[in-house]
Amino acid sequence: MSQLERVTDWHTTAHDLVLRFRGATLTLTPLAGDLIRLRVASDGATAPSTGAVVWDREPVAPQVTEHAGGLTLAAGRVRVEIALAPLRLSWYEGDRLFAQDEAILAAPDRVVLRRAMPPDEHYYGFGEKTGYLDKRGRRLEMWATDEGNHTPSADPLYQSIPFFLALRDGRAHGLFVDCGARSVFDMGSLDPADAYTVEVFSPVLDAYVFAGPRMADIVRRYAELTGRMELPPLWSLGFHQCRWSYFPEAKVREVARNFREREIPCDAIWLDIDYMDGYRVFTWDRERFPDPEGLVADLGRDGFRVVTIVDPGVKQDEQYAVYREGVEKGYFITQPDGSLTVGEVWPGASVFPDFQRASVRAWWGDLYREAYYDKGVAGVWNDMNEPANWLGNAAGEKTLPHDALQGESGERVPHAAVHNLYGFNMARATYEGWKRHRPGLRPFILTRSGYAGIQRYAAVWMGDNHSWWEHILAHMTMCAGMGLSGVPFVGTDVGGFNANPNGELVARWIAIGALTPFFRMHTAWGTRDQEPWSFGPEVEAICRKYIRLRYRLLPYVYTLMEEAARTGLPAMRPLVLEHQEDPETWHISDQVLIGRDLLAAPVYQPGVTRRLVYLPAGAWYDFWTGERLAGGRYVVAEAPLDVIPLYVRAGAALPMGPEMSHTGAVPMETLTLHVYAGEGDFTLYEDEGEGYGYQRGVFARTRITVQPDRVTVSLPEGGYTPTWRRVELLLHGFAGDLALDGTPVRDASGVAGARRLVVERQGGFTVTASR
Ligand code: GLC
Repeated sequence: MSQLERVTDWHTTAHDLVLRFRGATLTLTPLAGDLIRLRVASDGATAPSTGAVVWDREPVAPQVTEHAGGLTLAAGRVRVEIALAPLRLSWYEGDRLFAQDEAILAAPDRVVLRRAMPPDEHYYGFGEKTGYLDKRGRRLEMWATDEGNHTPSADPLYQSIPFFLALRDGRAHGLFVDCGARSVFDMGSLDPADAYTVEVFSPVLDAYVFAGPRMADIVRRYAELTGRMELPPLWSLGFHQCRWSYFPEAKVREVARNFREREIPCDAIWLDIDYMDGYRVFTWDRERFPDPEGLVADLGRDGFRVVTIVDPGVKQDEQYAVYREGVEKGYFITQPDGSLTVGEVWPGASVFPDFQRASVRAWWGDLYREAYYDKGVAGVWNDMNEPANWLGNAAGEKTLPHDALQGESGERVPHAAVHNLYGFNMARATYEGWKRHRPGLRPFILTRSGYAGIQRYAAVWMGDNHSWWEHILAHMTMCAGMGLSGVPFVGTDVGGFNANPNGELVARWIAIGALTPFFRMHTAWGTRDQEPWSFGPEVEAICRKYIRLRYRLLPYVYTLMEEAARTGLPAMRPLVLEHQEDPETWHISDQVLIGRDLLAAPVYQPGVTRRLVYLPAGAWYDFWTGERLAGGRYVVAEAPLDVIPLYVRAGAALPMGPEMSHTGAVPMETLTLHVYAGEGDFTLYEDEGEGYGYQRGVFARTRITVQPDRVTVSLPEGGYTPTWRRVELLLHGFAGDLALDGTPVRDASGVAGARRLVVERQGGFTVTASR
């Protein structure tokens, strides 16, 4: 490798500062006042576009000045001091030096960036990774892999999101390295280290530097750069029941019946691979499922939706239409000699569509129509799309050969150059097909593999975890890490996929699952039954309690998902995202925030019934008892099996709806608002829950303002008329006599020590407390 040592000459263009080296070029392009693109390419080198970046705003013109020793590039709040020989880039936000590039090395096949690593800097994000929240000291690889053993050092897993935030002294910056090939982030794995390295196995390094300093601003900017998720349909935020696999159809009906008879809410039942005819995607096993339309319609009448799995591996079978058509049209990935790249997955010998190509994506997206959409299937589950291939390749990886060819004709590149994009482009094909064939319905697509920007196309679950206590902790760290990496709609297999859980584990997992954006129970082939009622009456009651709580919290969850769709801020947040100036939060992996206001601290060890909980500064209320607690300290939370320690920030208004068996069961007639005395506000978002009316103004926002002695609920604003006609206030921490718009009113006692007051109006009032 040769180091980019001496700048031989430089120039500016309208948008760029271009530095020339012997054999390579470095380009700096300010995109916004806090975002700069940094590209390094060996002469003549190109890399295929990943499709991750959707930034469409005019770049900012760079101000470049020359002085003794170097150049200064300024744009908005960012300044880059560039030493020309030897090359060194020092990045400033205002007066804060936030990063220093000490060396850049380039070779025909890779580029390495070496950045100073201050001893007190912490690293977050990187998508789906094992281990604790702060990734300092880890070596993290981006190479989509079907890894079924998520032990602490297991890396890489299914997702490749080469983005992280660095936090030092409470101030953050970010780095996104856009690369569809393998990349490695060595965040000081050889301790002590004074630098970290980013290595891309591509002749081009294409990086984006985010100046911060607020983590939330970086996450929002990153979401602007790589796109945001679409607002999901309301039903997809309900509870999902899955297993590998429910069949035949009588079994599916039995599972559904149990939910209704046992009065446990549920919106969706999932069909794993065994619904297919010999694992041929886009087919049905007509013995197990003689009448899919009928089944889906019957379940639909009972409020259940059906989601089916679709893998990329297409069975090599001359009698199978999908295979034949794909071969005829040349849609499958081939070897350099032109022969089909054949691997092995569930159907046996299989071939793999080349989703890099628009024509293949269009074909694939259309296949869903007859097989699923016309039959009423409500959602799609894309799995095995790293892609998994049990035959393995010459490098010993269970994926495709590196030299298999992908891409449009004339632009074909080896699989290795685009490996990390396979799941992303499969989900994209599915999403684009959905848009063509179900124009009135919001997409619900779940994927296992993905790349930066995957949030535009699909929700993501964390793949094959285990029924291990450690994986309740991993549930939090992985979902929070994904949220920081632009992907808000995430969840894990609740109860664990591999291995058999006991009831205690399920009771603990369901509680945090109920607070997670994507909430699905799922388990592997051959494991014991894993439905909410499979572990005896006590655990069934706990599952019922938390699944019901989830449904009651839907107004809050839905509002957070709308915020995520609009801004990129995730619903499930690590504490550090909201409290980055508080060093105590920098390492908290075992608590999460749901939005800004709800803090969850699950028990994730067997036999344990109390735990330490850190409450950030300010005051908090125990959700269950209503007790007001001072923050900025640790408290010991009592957590018997049926209690997840849960706290609400003073000044919060937590909206809740009615109990229901599924999201379409009952309209919300009463809006319940738990209000916690303090300073704050919350704006409830509501719409039809499905379709695109919201994009034309058919939504409502209701603002609730909280002060220590008063609550104001605005009239809903917008083109949607909420279904609720009254507000049930549950006032926590409000003392003295109450008045409604100045007129004294009497309250009753409510749950968790709250004072209950029902106002028969659709907002537009203020309640005051005299003390
Ligand atoms: C993979 C998936 C898992 C699924 C199984 C069978 O292991 O990750 O969720 O149940 O394949 O399709």
